[in-house]
Amino acid sequence: MNPTSEPHAKPRRGISTLQLVVLTIAANALVILQGAFVRATGSGAGCGRHWPLCNGEVVPLSGGVHTAIEFTHRLLSLGVLILGAWLFARVWRMRRENPGLFAFTVAATVFLLIEAGLGALTVLWGLTGDNQSIERGLMVATHLVNSLLLVGSLAGVLLYARPRPPAWPLRLRGQGPLGTVLAIGLVGMLFLMFSGGIAAMGNTMFPSASLAEGIAADFDPDSHPLIRLRILHPIIGITVGIYLFLSLGTAWWIKPAPEGRVLAQGLLGVYLVQLGVGTLNLALLAPIVLQLLHLGLAVVSFFLLAALTVVLLAAPAKRSVRATAGARADPAMERT
Ligand code: HEM
Repeated sequence: MNPTSEPHAKPRRGISTLQLVVLTIAANALVILQGAFVRATGSGAGCGRHWPLCNGEVVPLSGGVHTAIEFTHRLLSLGVLILGAWLFARVWRMRRENPGLFAFTVAATVFLLIEAGLGALTVLWGLTGDNQSIERGLMVATHLVNSLLLVGSLAGVLLYARPRPPAWPLRLRGQGPLGTVLAIGLVGMLFLMFSGGIAAMGNTMFPSASLAEGIAADFDPDSHPLIRLRILHPIIGITVGIYLFLSLGTAWWIKPAPEGRVLAQGLLGVYLVQLGVGTLNLALLAPIVLQLLHLGLAVVSFFLLAALTVVLLAAPAKRSVRATAGARADPAMERT
């Protein structure tokens, strides 16, 4: 069967594959934000050092608000694991007719399992509550990077679950510098997220009473390493922003795919807003609402960059893209 043929052509009772994918993406985004809420409210130790049980119980009937927050996060994470298994089982049956969908679903499933494993290790190793170790900061940042790799894989899943999926396999050879330009952007963005996780952890463990006190602590040689490192995050944010602005222009020049243009413009727009939200976050000492907004925009940015990477790698080479666009603009060309 043609890999680009409609995977939902057969009438199916119940939820379609595309709907299942959208639901999975929405649920994962919610769990990622909820994870930040657990951290920001200091609820990570709400179930003690117990996993998968919560304070030694299946359902903790006693316990305070922190237990309720942490337990709800575990319940939603379980829901996301079930959704992931459902999606995998559905896509397994389509693996021959839509290998692109299958490949990205396998990647998403692997990152989802790692995500659950990192959550479990965070609790079992006691990297919660009053723990002020560098390991805790590194774990949060690593967890965040894995969350974004999951989001990126889900972007690929969504593209290949659509009625007209991009070409497959994605090729790097014969694409000129396109693959390198996009890969640097993806790695730069992940590095930025890692630094964001470090900044968030520094703020959570050592909250400042004022902006001036926070900036003084950033430059104090006696400060905790996580505080000293957090200043790097805005610097990396601005550097990656400049790179994306220049590199997406270059990518568009190498391959002017129309869908890529929409995604690139969306990404740059979200990124600009994100720089503003990040600055506000810093100035207002990171209130929880702004932390969640900042993280939500980070998730959207990475989703768009991953989708853009797939779309551009899959699009036909420059000459045929331009020829197609020209033929559409000039009906006379179509006749030649
Ligand atoms: C001038 C630019 C930026 C500034 C001043 C800034 C500031 C901050 C601050 C203060 C935090 C810690 C908030 C907290 O305590 O939770 C943070 C976290 C974070 N930032 Fe930024 N940021 C900037 C740009 C960006 C950009 C462009 C991205 C991604 C596209 C990003 C992604 C993140 C992420 C993922 C976190 C961790 C969120 C969490 O785990 O809750 N930041 N940022």
